Amino acid sequence: MKIGLDQIHFATSDYFLDMAKLAQARGEDPNKYLIGIGQSKMAVIPPSQDSVTLAANAAAPLLTPALRSEIDTVIFASESGIDQSKSGAVYLQDLLQLPNTIRAFEVKQACYSATAAIQFAMGYIALHPTRKVLITASDIARYGLHTAGEPTQGGGAVAMVISANPHIIAFDPDSTVFTENIMDFWRPNYATEAMVDGHYSGHMYIDFFQDVFQRYCQQKQLHLADFAALAFHLPYTKMGLKALRAVLPTTDDTTQKRLLDNFEASRHYSRQVGNLYTGSLYLSLLSLLEQATTLKAGDRIGLFSYGSGAVSEFYSGHLQPDFKAALGNLDQVLAQRTEVTIPTYEKLFTTSLPTDGSALKFQTFINPQRYYLAGIDQHQRQYRRPQ
Ligand code: HMG
Repeated sequence: MKIGLDQIHFATSDYFLDMAKLAQARGEDPNKYLIGIGQSKMAVIPPSQDSVTLAANAAAPLLTPALRSEIDTVIFASESGIDQSKSGAVYLQDLLQLPNTIRAFEVKQACYSATAAIQFAMGYIALHPTRKVLITASDIARYGLHTAGEPTQGGGAVAMVISANPHIIAFDPDSTVFTENIMDFWRPNYATEAMVDGHYSGHMYIDFFQDVFQRYCQQKQLHLADFAALAFHLPYTKMGLKALRAVLPTTDDTTQKRLLDNFEASRHYSRQVGNLYTGSLYLSLLSLLEQATTLKAGDRIGLFSYGSGAVSEFYSGHLQPDFKAALGNLDQVLAQRTEVTIPTYEKLFTTSLPTDGSALKFQTFINPQRYYLAGIDQHQRQYRRPQ
């Protein structure tokens, strides 16, 4: 039985920052951000959006009446959770008006957890082939103003439906995994911004990639040339390019050109949004499938998932005959966003919810056609559905 990705949809905020303008404001050469980091625009997430509303906005367009009755599990993958106890998945079940007869829970391991959710879903569907699993990978990447990590912020959510006989990509059941306790990136419970050893994290990303990729190829008797494309977790788009370049010398010129061309397609959306943490690999996959011009049914796509701390996994799948029909073109959606100035971005970045139980209602940066956070009252977030 084939099991894999049946549907996918992405949502981010309505606002973005121009990276060349951020570079100028920080006294950096714009090419450091545009070429050296590989980012052109960065999603700016207003306080009226959080990991729950981003996930709801990503998932809602997928939910036809038929799908609503087939989904029996919702997994909320995030490292921007809003509660230490209650899962974002329960808020999502309510906001999306999904039946009460589903299970809903949250998973966390930095940027890796959506991959863990997919692996869980595949095993679950193997036992229950008629069921479908909704996974949302939703985060807001925050490092802080005037930090080295600032140009690698961003945010958004990818919603995915995993099922038997998928429309987009059928995953092979095998994968290779590597876990090691390292301090490359972490966020203690009391911190609202990540702590990071930036250069070390980049080296670890490449080391972990080479380990899981080489073991995967050995186990399955595959070579780089057997992959039509590789999709990477993209904390910033240059990071994936560096990992790809680490393995390219093992293959011929034709394969190198194909993988580099497809890498450009895979980073097209992330370049305009920034890091999504858990969702980044899957935005890269979406971008690859929508933007690449030479992919065809049957092609093998490799996926590299990395979550700091750190856990990595490599797996792959084959494109299905009608995969294009299940996709759209995100460029049109991203083009409708509004640019914010540096002072507005900084104000939005530093706005926070009260933590003493007092009430706050957001009056601005609200789009009533989306799910949004209206404010907080007595320590309870007040969510609104689209009007
Ligand atoms: P930095 O130290 O300010 O930048 O921070 P740099 O000096 O290393 O320069 C960056 C690149 O720009 C370099 O290229 C420069 O040469 C180039 P590279 O050597 O890397 O190829 N450059 C220029 N290029 C063209 N024209 C110019 C120019 N000037 C310089 N004029 C750093 C960079 C990535 C360290 C920082 O932004 C950071 O700490 N980011 C956050 C950490 C991160 O994203 N790590 C990635 C791996 S870990 C991961 O993926 C997990 C994560 O997503 C979290 C999770 O799992 O939850 C982060």
